[in-house]
Amino acid sequence: MAYLEIDPAAQTSRENYFLLTGLVVPRPIAWVSSLSENGVRNLAPHSYFNIVSSDPPIVHFTQTGRKDTLTNVETTGEFVINFVSVELAEAMNLTAADFPHDEDEFAWAGLEAAASTRVSPPRVAAVRAAFECRVRTILEMGNGNMVFGDVVAVHVDESVFRDGRVDMARLAAVGRLGGSWYSAVDDPFRLDRPTWANLRRATE
Ligand SMILES: Cc1cc2nc3c(=O)[nH]c(=O)nc-3n(C[C@H](O)[C@H](O)[C@H](O)COP(=O)(O)O)c2cc1C
Repeated sequence: MAYLEIDPAAQTSRENYFLLTGLVVPRPIAWVSSLSENGVRNLAPHSYFNIVSSDPPIVHFTQTGRKDTLTNVETTGEFVINFVSVELAEAMNLTAADFPHDEDEFAWAGLEAAASTRVSPPRVAAVRAAFECRVRTILEMGNGNMVFGDVVAVHVDESVFRDGRVDMARLAAVGRLGGSWYSAVDDPFRLDRPTWANLRRATE
């Protein structure tokens, strides 16, 4: 290996963005639906997204700077995370356009909405899974606004959730890579985690 050592402090913000988002891959995508103060439906993908806690279930996504999603979740305290499967990738990408605040992005993307049960923003009817969330806290860090939310309801298509486990092939998740690249989870492989006891027994 012949490593380059890069000092982030010597790079521009844009250079660091491409370096970080090219290396932290694949990133899960939270396709966030929210409502404006006037009830306008908003949708936007966020790949700065992950689990914070499973007990209780808490997730976070980060909005860079201030766009409509941040304003909406701050105002209403609610959002839905829609999971993007392969056939929804193009519709998801369309909702990343810089729509004005008062445009209905479900309508623009030609997506049907399904009513949520615990929060006001609807989910995308065609997704195979979604989390209904209530904002726990929002932290500003660097140019990121980290939105933490309690997951108050989970919707998952029956064909995806079997015997208490999510079927990877049926979820057909999409990951964000660097630039305009994406990956599809179509070649999952399995590794069982070793235990110290098994490892020790194998060397005896
Ligand atoms: C796959 C994908 C992932 C994205 N991830 C983020 C992200 O994590 N944070 C962010 O601020 N913008 C992200 N964007 C850009 C936003 O989706 C875009 O700026 C959008 O217009 C914001 O919408 P809003 O104004 O409705 O909030 C992403 C775009 C795409 C296509």
